[in-house]
Amino acid sequence: MSYPARRMRRLRRTPALRRMVAETALRPADLVAPLFVRDGIDEPEPIASLPGVLQHTVASLVLEAKHLATLGVPAVMVFGVPATKDAAGSGASDADGIAQVALRALRDALGDALVLVADLCLCEYTDHGHCGLVDAAGGIDNDATLERYAEVALAQAAAGADIVAPSGMMDGQVGAIRAALEGGGLAGTAILAYAAKYASSFYGPFREAVDVTIAGGGDRRGYQQDPANLREALAEVRLDVAEGADLVMVKPALPYLDVLAAVRAEVDVPVAAYHVSGEYAMLAAAAERGWIDRSAAALEVVGSIKRAGADVVLTYLAGELAELLDPVRG
Ligand code: PBG
Repeated sequence: MSYPARRMRRLRRTPALRRMVAETALRPADLVAPLFVRDGIDEPEPIASLPGVLQHTVASLVLEAKHLATLGVPAVMVFGVPATKDAAGSGASDADGIAQVALRALRDALGDALVLVADLCLCEYTDHGHCGLVDAAGGIDNDATLERYAEVALAQAAAGADIVAPSGMMDGQVGAIRAALEGGGLAGTAILAYAAKYASSFYGPFREAVDVTIAGGGDRRGYQQDPANLREALAEVRLDVAEGADLVMVKPALPYLDVLAAVRAEVDVPVAAYHVSGEYAMLAAAAERGWIDRSAAALEVVGSIKRAGADVVLTYLAGELAELLDPVRG
């Protein structure tokens, strides 16, 4: 009689055995909830392509943030949706712009109980929908945009952001923001760099959430990364760390788990991954049709992002997962 060399199944027999030998575990503390706050509305509004996610009023945003904090979610990422847009994206750096109003309200209500991350970009605030300033020839003016990002960073930090998160993929954005924060007496504000951000087809629902249409049917391929490239992501990450990034991000998450693992191996700063709107929408749509089990799929997907190397996962599933992640049942 011959036996298998090693019986892998012995340690899979009971839930307690499986828990004991689990190599990774998802915790509420790993999660960041992206939240939308919209100027000029009296009631929170649903977002059709992101079922379960809302455009908040400042008041409902604060309530949601308090709820997330009680669930053990350590951080939120704030996106502002302004009432009016213009070519320079003025609202992004206005002290009374919606994101700044929201950050102050969150800080007042929650003190240091929740980490406040501010997405730093112009696209929610520009009438042309680009992440940077458009020049006379219709191109994106990189260096003029850096000056705007510096102004936005100062406004967000002054309003209470612990972390600013530049997402526009302009060259030199982290260095420009770091210098502005130091010069503005806000050296304690950290930078989460959207370092490897791809020109992805998974941002569609987000653009509905922030009311963005790119002028003339344009796209962001002139500044976001080509999905074909991995070495380029590592170069972006190295540059951002050299420029002073405190954390770096890979975005989207699931289609780029190889990039995430490579970034994790490359740097020693914390690595974040953004499970983006289209990734959430796919999961929500399949679950709505009864084709997959929503909770099980959510745990598996976000768990896989952690296993691939993320220290922090930004996900619209944050609150739901924190409720599912009972520390006893694990
Ligand atoms: C803005 C920004 C985008 C996302 C986060 N910040 C959209 C884009 O680059 O078009 C996408 C987030 C998501 O899809 O959930 N620069």
